[in-house]
Amino acid sequence: MELEPTILTREEGNVGIITLNRPKALNALNAILIDELLAALRSYDRNSDIGAVVVTGNNKAFCAGADIKEQRELDFVGAYNTDYLKDLNDAIVAIHKPIIGAINGYALGGGCELAMMCDILYAGRGAVFGQPEIKLGTIPGAGGTQRLIRAIGKSKAMDMILTGRTMKSAEAEASGLVAKIFDDEETVTRAIETAQKIASFSAPVVAMAKEAVNEAEELGLKNGLHFESRLYHSSFGLADHVEGFEAFLQKREPRWTHK
Ligand code: CAA
Repeated sequence: MELEPTILTREEGNVGIITLNRPKALNALNAILIDELLAALRSYDRNSDIGAVVVTGNNKAFCAGADIKEQRELDFVGAYNTDYLKDLNDAIVAIHKPIIGAINGYALGGGCELAMMCDILYAGRGAVFGQPEIKLGTIPGAGGTQRLIRAIGKSKAMDMILTGRTMKSAEAEASGLVAKIFDDEETVTRAIETAQKIASFSAPVVAMAKEAVNEAEELGLKNGLHFESRLYHSSFGLADHVEGFEAFLQKREPRWTHK
């Protein structure tokens, strides 16, 4: 039974900020936290005042993974029937608005996987990434074996997943896992700034761009290029497209109507 909300939400301008809030368990993902996280993401996705979302934790931990105490109780059937990590994976993929992960401290196991579900990752210099499941007698179960290889390549992904070793933020940046690193105290602020910049653009165009980039992981090049062309052509039907081109030619800032 959680006495405190397991996530906290606040808004800065057009940005929704979700903070994981189980500090005593290093923000481990239990069923309640995942439910509350998904409800907050869906609520921001439906809110037309919000253009982008930042997900973060605290200085010690973004998230230390699936809740080991909760998972210890599960056998095969229990794990199969209550796979809330799969629910998390499936639901985050369906969020239209960009999600920036602002990572300080530990991002391990399901925490590293949650980070990789985000669209852009910013990390503090003290952040530590890893898929240590092998040390627990299991394997990554929320996308780690699939997303880590796409992010950092097979050899490094195998090195981490098969040994359980961790990666500090400098290596994570050099490997392409995170976009930028900052001093820890700056991570969230810089993520919010970037989210505000994204939220300042046309919302339907931002959603199209996100969808097209994400499809690159699902489709071969031929189908991916076709999909991109279709979305690109669709953007010509938007009032924001007309406005963006006109504003450029008139040497002024565009006034987006998000239509
Ligand atoms: N689940 C539940 N509780 C956790 C937890 C987790 N994943 N990680 C940490 N905690 C709890 C600890 O049990 C401890 O609680 P108590 O005070 O009640 O004992 C509290 O958080 C603080 O943790 P530590 O005392 O261990 O803190 P530390 O600074 O010494 O170590 C750490 C930090 C290295 C992150 C260490 O806590 C750790 O190794 N955690 C487990 C990381 C892990 O193995 N994650 C993978 C989980 S499985 C998974 O995620 C599967 C998947 O793919 C979806």
